[in-house]
Amino acid sequence: MEKVKVGIVGCGYIGRTHAMAFSYTPKSEIVAVADKDEQRAKELASRYKAKPYTDYKTMIEKEDLDAVSIGLPSPLHAEASVYALRHGLHVFCEKPMAHTLEECDMMIEEARKRSLNLMIAQSHRYWQLDREAKWIIDNGFIGEIISLSNITMTGIPERWGDDILMGTAVHFIDTIRWWAGSDVETVYGKAGSYVSRWIDNASAILTFKNGAFASIEIYNTPGNRGQGFMRSHVFGTEGMLETDHYTELYLQRKGEQKVLLHSMGSGGFEGPNRVKTFSLETKEFIDSIIEGRDPAVPGEEGRKNIEIILAWVESSKTGKPVKLPLK
Ligand SMILES: NC(=O)c1ccc[n+]([C@@H]2O[C@H](COP(=O)([O-])OP(=O)(O)OC[C@H]3O[C@@H](n4cnc5c(N)ncnc54)[C@H](O)[C@@H]3O)[C@@H](O)[C@H]2O)c1
Repeated sequence: MEKVKVGIVGCGYIGRTHAMAFSYTPKSEIVAVADKDEQRAKELASRYKAKPYTDYKTMIEKEDLDAVSIGLPSPLHAEASVYALRHGLHVFCEKPMAHTLEECDMMIEEARKRSLNLMIAQSHRYWQLDREAKWIIDNGFIGEIISLSNITMTGIPERWGDDILMGTAVHFIDTIRWWAGSDVETVYGKAGSYVSRWIDNASAILTFKNGAFASIEIYNTPGNRGQGFMRSHVFGTEGMLETDHYTELYLQRKGEQKVLLHSMGSGGFEGPNRVKTFSLETKEFIDSIIEGRDPAVPGEEGRKNIEIILAWVESSKTGKPVKLPLK
């Protein structure tokens, strides 16, 4: 296959991001786009010389596509992914993969039995400072990892059909798992609806199979509309890393001062930082199809994040740590 022919499902904020990213991705071509909002579909289609649809199922049936990217509200991820996979298409699906393990399993099974690629868009694996942190960890600069932490204050991602865990904490659960290089063993959490009808404030302690542990705290306060903050630390036997994920990365080695390793502007919607992040991600999806290998974040990896969130909520209900895997 010379070029992977892609259809964009959902032309909102992230659908436009996917289209931008594919437009920078060699060996891919945006053929069609779909959104139930006709105006949105037409606008995105005209920008990338693609064909607009108001129904993604019609797009999948009529167009000669190889793959779709799914940027629909989260409760629709499983249904749309399964529909595309059953029509023989590779799927690049936004986070959170789905809201239940049954849905995740269905997506994984449909992809595996057809030898199609299912990649979950855990985009923090592609943000520059998160990648630099991973490189520093993997190359031993901070020694063996002891613990990791993330604290985030953010809006409630109601528009996506998600609570604060599914919508936002899912990013940092994934990042911390990736940095730790190990699977989670137990989850002890508290999660509640304090200022909305959604889970809006939550924190958890995770333990990993390799002996590391992590704390993840995610908060919303009334009036916070999304411009909050996020900060992560990784503590090792030889040093410490600190980052806000987008603009600053610090390293402190044992016995030394904390140094700013990297400082960068966060940029705008189509600024170099976002273009680079998202086109690295779409490039990985396209390369994995062309090379006939698994993508870096297959369905099984997306599922692990959902399992942790479900365990977090269960732990909050019972007041006890929950051991993985969930039954
Ligand atoms: N990876 C990231 O950094 C990141 C960032 C933002 C959003 N997201 C994820 O992307 C998803 C979408 O978020 P968004 O911010 O783009 O939302 P959005 O509201 O901007 O866009 C969603 C689009 O889906 C369309 N839509 C809804 N139901 C549809 C249907 N049945 N058929 C066709 N179109 C339909 C809507 O009209 C809308 O244009 C969410 O799951 C969210 O978690 C990920």
